[in-house]
Amino acid sequence: MKVAIIGAGNVGAMAASRIIDGNLADVVLLDVVPGLAKGKALDISDTRPITGSAVSITGSEDFSDLKGADIAVITAGLARKPGMSREDLLKKNSEIVKGISLKIKGLCPSSIVIVVTNPLDVMSYLVMKTTGFDPKRVIGMAGVLDSARFINAIKGMGKNIPGGEALMLGSHGDTMVPVNRSKGLSAEVFNHASETARNRGAEIVKYLGTGSAYFAPSASVFFMLKAIVKNEKSAMCVSAYLEGQYGEKDIYIGVPVVLGSQGIEKIIEIELTQEEKQAFKKSALQIREGIAKTL
Ligand code: NAI
Ligand code: 2OP
Repeated sequence: MKVAIIGAGNVGAMAASRIIDGNLADVVLLDVVPGLAKGKALDISDTRPITGSAVSITGSEDFSDLKGADIAVITAGLARKPGMSREDLLKKNSEIVKGISLKIKGLCPSSIVIVVTNPLDVMSYLVMKTTGFDPKRVIGMAGVLDSARFINAIKGMGKNIPGGEALMLGSHGDTMVPVNRSKGLSAEVFNHASETARNRGAEIVKYLGTGSAYFAPSASVFFMLKAIVKNEKSAMCVSAYLEGQYGEKDIYIGVPVVLGSQGIEKIIEIELTQEEKQAFKKSALQIREGIAKTL
């Protein structure tokens, strides 16, 4: 199994390191900056005698190395800077992501693509349209991260909640939609944890001063890759293409799915409350505005 990671920055390199540590698949790490992917790949490769990992990693700026990749992860693009919204990244990142999508289409036409670049839902839509791939094979990473932030915030307030009972749906943006199916969660904890999760990305950007979160994002990528490589058929939230589910069509947006070796094997439709339905619709509207500006 070969995983290509395009963009050897913070998220891409950390995801590559997790894949090698986890002995999950061979990795080719690509970046346009000369030497960057090669240097990071050599460093990650040297960890293998320590960890006992048996998979390989190479770095390259030659995109023909995408050939033969079973899974492509797009982490290329600009990251958020303080005061910058995910939508501010739209124009620059859509040029980068479109170019990469065309290369994926030509060089690894049967691959599954995981999109990470922001604004996530719009970029996932752009990749699907540009590659012309079956939408089941183009998956946006955000729901795993946003749900983890939500659950972590709930735990931080002293409440324990099973993973499947607290989810983050909708866009990977300010209109993300928190969903609670636990009876034991007070409105106060729910509201506070929702706000924490919604603001977490910006909070981290503010502290770092330069760059954005990458430890939890790369762990989220690894979690999705593992489900695909090992055909786990696990339930998780991702940005997926909807064709009528949740009352929406022709859009990428965060929903629960089953992930396995074929990519998105099922979209899980949970019953939403009236309030959640309205919030989901608002979130979809915001994504559609981004799509309209991009395509
Ligand atoms: P970074 O700036 O550390 O790395 C980006 C890398 O992309 C750089 O090394 C750059 O040289 C490379 N790059 C630019 N154009 C390229 C091209 N055409 N081909 C190959 N490589 C190219 O950024 P970081 O922190 O790794 O974030 C990457 C992207 O992921 C950003 O758009 C960020 O906003 C997004 N992100 C999304 C998350 C999500 O939940 N969906 C979470 C965290 C980050
Ligand atoms: C985050 O949520 C920047 O989208 C990225 O941390």
